[in-house]
Amino acid sequence: MEVVIHPDSGAVARTTADIVQGRLEQGHAALGLATGSTPLGAYRELIRRHRQEGLSFARAQAFTLDEYLGLPPEHLGSYRSVIRREFTDSVDFPDRAVHSLDGHAPDPVAEAARYEAAIAAAGGIDVQILGIGTDGHIGFNEPMSSLASRTRIKTLTEQTRRDNARFFPAPEDVPHHVLTQGLATIRDARHLLLIGLGEAKAEAIAAAVEGPLAAACPASSLQLHPHTTVLVDQAAASRLQHREYYEYTLAQKPDWQAY
Ligand code: F6R
Repeated sequence: MEVVIHPDSGAVARTTADIVQGRLEQGHAALGLATGSTPLGAYRELIRRHRQEGLSFARAQAFTLDEYLGLPPEHLGSYRSVIRREFTDSVDFPDRAVHSLDGHAPDPVAEAARYEAAIAAAGGIDVQILGIGTDGHIGFNEPMSSLASRTRIKTLTEQTRRDNARFFPAPEDVPHHVLTQGLATIRDARHLLLIGLGEAKAEAIAAAVEGPLAAACPASSLQLHPHTTVLVDQAAASRLQHREYYEYTLAQKPDWQAY
């Protein structure tokens, strides 16, 4: 894992956008997109580059990570709606190239299999943007998720339901069940960007990066991946034991070495 500690969330957003832009400029790209608050700064920066600098997504595809079960696709809280509202409708992504799980599918097990096949048909995901839950979840893989899991139904913890209540009219409206890419599905992506912002994520980031590889912290499964970049602000880095080493490594990073 390469741990990159930036002074603030704006710098994290710019580095995330740099990595995505670099991949887009190589040609066809499949981007994995997290929803939630964490990636919003990066999405805004990518929208700015599209509008002011001509960065194009016309040849890219996007795959969201997860979806609430039981919400119709047009529901304002569905991640299918959120990713369009917050990002893809503001750039030149063709709508048909923005893929998501259907939380209203009559057969969620078949829907999970369809999604795995769609990712494979796109040639796999090139760059996967990930946020992290306060309990260490990525996607909606809650603690004790199998490190070998594929896309499937999961039950949210009460903590995650509370954390996400801000996106719904009332706390009891947050669904209990979700469809999510599994931990092994996520690790199939070629480059993983794990973003942590703010003090509330400090403990989860420390467990993911420096804790034991354990289902108790699903994000720790990224330690198995050969190309994970962890992008954090000062507050989210505050519990890292080896912080000085990460800062030293970044200061010594050769100009020729990309993220
Ligand atoms: C959502 C997702 C989740 C979030 C996590 C953090 O698609 O994958 O794992 O990244 O719940 O949420 P925020 O960014 O809102 O703190």
